[in-house]
Amino acid sequence: MKIAVAGVGYVGLVTAVGFAHHGHMVTAVDLDTQKIAGLTKGISPIYEPGLETLLQEQLAANRIQFTTDGASAYADADAIVIGVGTPENEDGSANLSAIYQVAREIGQSIQKDCLVIVKSTVPVGTNDKIETIVQEALKHAVHVDVVSNPEFLAQGSAIYDTLHGSRIVIGTESRAAEEKMRELYDAYGQPILAVSRRSAELVKYASNDFLALKISFVNEIANLCDILGADIEEVTEGMGYDPRIGNSFLRAGIGYGGSCFPKDTKALHWLAEDHGFVLRTIEAAIKINEKQKYVLMHKLRKELPNLAGKKIAVLGLTFKPNTDDLREAPSIPNMRVLQKEGAIIQAYDPIAMAKTAEILGDATIMKNSVEEALDGADACLIFTEWNEICATSPDTFNNYMATPLVLDGRNCFDKHAMALAGITYQSIGRPLAKVRQLQ
Ligand code: UDX
Repeated sequence: MKIAVAGVGYVGLVTAVGFAHHGHMVTAVDLDTQKIAGLTKGISPIYEPGLETLLQEQLAANRIQFTTDGASAYADADAIVIGVGTPENEDGSANLSAIYQVAREIGQSIQKDCLVIVKSTVPVGTNDKIETIVQEALKHAVHVDVVSNPEFLAQGSAIYDTLHGSRIVIGTESRAAEEKMRELYDAYGQPILAVSRRSAELVKYASNDFLALKISFVNEIANLCDILGADIEEVTEGMGYDPRIGNSFLRAGIGYGGSCFPKDTKALHWLAEDHGFVLRTIEAAIKINEKQKYVLMHKLRKELPNLAGKKIAVLGLTFKPNTDDLREAPSIPNMRVLQKEGAIIQAYDPIAMAKTAEILGDATIMKNSVEEALDGADACLIFTEWNEICATSPDTFNNYMATPLVLDGRNCFDKHAMALAGITYQSIGRPLAKVRQLQ
């Protein structure tokens, strides 16, 4: 099929490359001339394992092209995918202005019957509005179906998630549109679930918010473990054997970040409230996560009440490993607190150094390696479980730090090995006080 994709952010770009990989002819559109120029040469604007290789393969096969000229790309497409961003408004609602703008442009440009596929995460009912906008903007007598088709890819594993997804959700009331969607995804070999358009819109929010809820729940239990002397890893292992619970998304830590969970929990909460309904579980997940971000800071203050002039190593800055994304990364607000209290930050991340320096307005805090960040430090805070960081040996902490105090927000290390090496080690929900001793 001939497909146009609007937006080359995470969702748009990975979707475009995925369709090309499965043999469709794809034109991806974005307003950002720099991004389009780079992509045309095979350079990805985002760090995502495997993406650039797949992009270059598809360029070489002439199955994908990039342009800033949306009108031409939409004019004769069989399907147009909307993958532009839905950022958060100040009140937590989703900002839909980019989507509506694209919908207008699509309506004005299309010259033949086509599908408009909405991949962006949008509040329930938005597809109806998109359909109205497209219909009202039409300049030719053509038939358009707007289909909801939420995206479930996660950053860091986006290519794998697209090519080996757990399901493809199609939301439409039109039999013909459903058939075309099934044809579009035929080569994907993934389970296809066809539902109403509103249900499809809600599947996305409900899935993300449920995962966020799972994380906030486990973080609360982890905090309780710290108080009661139980170990969260043993507790979640015991829980995970129950297939009704499952063993994924039970990793305790300093809370969820990224471009989806924080935004989508607030957006669904806002949407429900707008209809006079309070989603109490989501409200709790949001509040717990907000607090959890600073859990290492509370632990640090107990050890070092005055942070002024103290050297603090910060390892891992991105919201999760294998991405350069710093959106809602807990490292950022924590480093702002450290800066405010006069601590000397020595930060290291395998990928996101320049971006962090820009956000915090200080390049001097960036160090070139784990060792440089630890050098002479009074404490070390760990925010992201990059492999390189988890591979740091207890000896390295001991040899480089002034005082080996390690506060691990991602439970990267064996607590016994760290304690045996003489390191003051604290993590999330894994207290050392009550180590299991067999009699
Ligand atoms: C998420 C969803 O997983 C994906 O399906 C959706 O399409 C977009 O949102 P993403 O935000 O890229 O993907 O990453 P994910 O791996 O889900 O992690 C989100 C956050 O939760 C990260 O900060 C991660 O560290 C945290 N997390 C995840 C935990 O704290 N514990 C866990 O057990 C899992």
